[in-house]
Amino acid sequence: MKENYMVCNCMQVSYGDIEDALHTHETFPSVLEAFKGVQLATKCSTGCGGCHQKVLDIISELMMAPSADNA
Ligand code: FES
Repeated sequence: MKENYMVCNCMQVSYGDIEDALHTHETFPSVLEAFKGVQLATKCSTGCGGCHQKVLDIISELMMAPSADNA
């Protein structure tokens, strides 16, 4: 089952939303670039900013994980 939970309460962005946003743009050169892209796509971390580290952690985790699409 796909892991899913709310990451950014301000903008109602879930783990799945971040994952989807990340996978629409496969070629981010760095976690920070990916963060900017995901932020643009989902508006996550544009409210209180409290989820910033959480979003970064999830993005790096997803970028490190072997892509299921290529398996
Ligand atoms: S929880 Fe994400 S901006 Fe506030």
